[in-house]
Amino acid sequence: MLRKLAPSILDADFTCLERELSMMESGGADIIHLDIMDGNFVPNISFGPKIVESIKSKTSLPLEVHLMVEKPENHIKSFIDAGGDTIIVHYETSKHLEELIQNINNAGVKSGIALSPATPLSTIEYLTNKIDSLLIMTVNPGYGGQKFIPGMIEKIKKAREILDNHKKTVSLEVDGGINLSNLSKIIEAGAETIVVGQLIFKSKNPEMTIKKIKDILK
Ligand code: DX5
Ligand code: ZN
Repeated sequence: MLRKLAPSILDADFTCLERELSMMESGGADIIHLDIMDGNFVPNISFGPKIVESIKSKTSLPLEVHLMVEKPENHIKSFIDAGGDTIIVHYETSKHLEELIQNINNAGVKSGIALSPATPLSTIEYLTNKIDSLLIMTVNPGYGGQKFIPGMIEKIKKAREILDNHKKTVSLEVDGGINLSNLSKIIEAGAETIVVGQLIFKSKNPEMTIKKIKDILK
């Protein structure tokens, strides 16, 4: 299994994003994880399509847009136009999830579903043959630097089982509270793409931290 690292820039230094982007590239990041928060679905507000567009113009890494917003159907076009390569929507925010995923796929970009910790896998099992990634939130969405919820290990294992029984390859992503002491357990449970925020951006040497994580993912 080719495991990937997707740093979340939520806690990056936004006064020098270009430098942060080249740091992530030289560290060996595979994907850039963009946490979009609207202050409604989650209490926090982060950034919008304009920032995504600027980031797109400065990196060749794929951008995955994690939409933590109410009514995502009103926003997918602007994030696709801004350069999002994968659009990940929360099950909890969509009344017509199947149609939303269909619209993302029809726009020619990859689609993903994110599940908050309390949402069971059974809610989206019927859609796993239509998506490119399944994002298991291991913290309650809204902020970086939260504590990993240990009970999510079982959910990751169950998600792995479900996805292994499907023909279509769907990347199993894990997002929230990941650090150097829980990373191996998360990988053993079957995670393929690892989203990491503050472990990288609050460390003394973010590039070294990325390299360390990439070594563990090998
Ligand atoms: C939280 C976001 C996560 C978070 C990860 O709602 O989806 O991507 O920023 O950051 P850390 O790794 O700091 O928990
Ligand atoms: Zn995220």
